[in-house]
Amino acid sequence: MFAKFRQGMLCAAAASRNAQRQFSVSSAVRSDAIFVHRDTPQNNPSIPFEFDQKNMQEAKKIMAKYPPQYKKAAMIPLLHLAQKQNGWTSISVMNYVAKLIEVPPMRVYEVATFYTMFNRNPVGKYFLQVCTTTPCQLCGSSKIVETIENHLGIKVGETTSDKLFTLVEVECAGACVNAPVISVNDDYFEDLTPGATVKLLDDLKAGKSVTRGPVSGRKNCEPLGQPTTLTTPPPGPGFMVRSDL
Ligand code: FES
Repeated sequence: MFAKFRQGMLCAAAASRNAQRQFSVSSAVRSDAIFVHRDTPQNNPSIPFEFDQKNMQEAKKIMAKYPPQYKKAAMIPLLHLAQKQNGWTSISVMNYVAKLIEVPPMRVYEVATFYTMFNRNPVGKYFLQVCTTTPCQLCGSSKIVETIENHLGIKVGETTSDKLFTLVEVECAGACVNAPVISVNDDYFEDLTPGATVKLLDDLKAGKSVTRGPVSGRKNCEPLGQPTTLTTPPPGPGFMVRSDL
């Protein structure tokens, strides 16, 4: 009897707690732009794709690194190679790679939709990836994004009408010490300022050759300005060792 009464009290207390509890959820962000494929005139399986002769040689070399029964391990390098040739990773590219490594196309779709490095929509000749993660942001990446948007007249995620530039934001590009950083296709441009960014864009547009790396003039990630450590000759053997040892 007492046990039943106690159980009833506990249930009532729990119900009252639940009634008071405030649940909060963040609003769902829904987009089918990232994962879902819909056939379009520019991107459908009837558009042919196959490696050219040079890339086929390269693909064979890549696949030869793996035992024949594990050909599928070559999926990512093959997708990269195919994206390089095609400019982006279309449905035909994915289907072709699937055929090459003898896996169901779905296996390739799963990988290509997971890794953001595979562009499943056409991109401009110069694919601008601006890093906006914390170190770059602290060093002015927001200003760089704004500069590019204003100079090219596009927003993040868009391509210029002449198909020269596509702009995207990315997470840490792994060159934080030279922040802010953007990559243009396979090359990094670092220590950027708004002025240097405009010059870079203009040079690319004009077809001039550009020098990758830090635009500040420093070499790689050496200190900006004078060295601040290891500024004296290193002490010799026996330094700080007791004289009786
Ligand atoms: S935060 Fe931009 S390169 Fe790391």
